[in-house]
Amino acid sequence: MIEITTLSELTIDGKLSLGAGASSKDLFDFYGDDLRAWFHGQRAKCDAIMVGAGTVRNDDPELTVRHAEGPNPLRIVPASMGRLPLGSRLLNDGLPTLVVVSRAAPEAAVAALAAKPQVEVIRCGEARVDLVELMDMLYARGLRSLIVEGGSRLLHSLFATGLVSQIIIKHIPVITGAADAPTYLRAEEGHAPLSLSRWRLTELFVKSGVGVSIYRPLKLAAE
Ligand SMILES: NC(=O)c1ccc[n+]([C@@H]2O[C@H](COP(=O)([O-])OP(=O)(O)OC[C@H]3O[C@@H](n4cnc5c(N)ncnc54)[C@H](OP(=O)(O)O)[C@@H]3O)[C@@H](O)[C@H]2O)c1
Repeated sequence: MIEITTLSELTIDGKLSLGAGASSKDLFDFYGDDLRAWFHGQRAKCDAIMVGAGTVRNDDPELTVRHAEGPNPLRIVPASMGRLPLGSRLLNDGLPTLVVVSRAAPEAAVAALAAKPQVEVIRCGEARVDLVELMDMLYARGLRSLIVEGGSRLLHSLFATGLVSQIIIKHIPVITGAADAPTYLRAEEGHAPLSLSRWRLTELFVKSGVGVSIYRPLKLAAE
């Protein structure tokens, strides 16, 4: 099975950004070069990096390694109906991106995405991208490590699969006060809440005044 790490930034009040519709990139302003280099080094260690379609629509991220040495991981975006802005950076910079759509995605949306340079589109799942099936497909392609950076709906679905083997959280020392900012995990409409899972804190350090905590599932960490 592919090794899955989630890597997120959270404010003191448990938010993924400073407000509804704000980009999570705003949180980068609250830390310095050493944490930035460490963070990009984590990306460079993985074969692939994933964010949900919501993050691409909201933040327009590049998901490349720019502040550390190392290769760019393959970018992967689950977008069940192929609904991604065609001007998105990761569809237009000539670096490889894998867009994962469901079998219900319209052909026209798939063709428009696949026409972009270095963009491949695959189908997985019926009405919605099936993350378990996807992880098997990625493993079959030779990918062994994946970093998932968010957002809250993708993380919720991913934790529901029980496949995450490491959680990394950068604790940004600000309180947004924005009740409508996205929280760490958000169930999609009609999806059940997560059941309780226990994790073991395996590392804790401070870089650029930001706490970084790393967790592993209790059963793996105890082995
Ligand atoms: N602080 C951080 O570390 C960090 C990192 C990343 C993002 N963010 C923030 O997170 C927010 C975006 O979160 P979000 O919840 O709106 O979007 P998201 O989690 O990035 O993407 C969710 C979308 O992905 C698609 N998707 C396809 N298959 C899925 C599946 N099996 N499970 C879940 N989603 C699936 C769905 O869109 P379709 O219906 O189109 O398929 C779904 O709405 C933004 O505010 C962003 O700034 C923060």
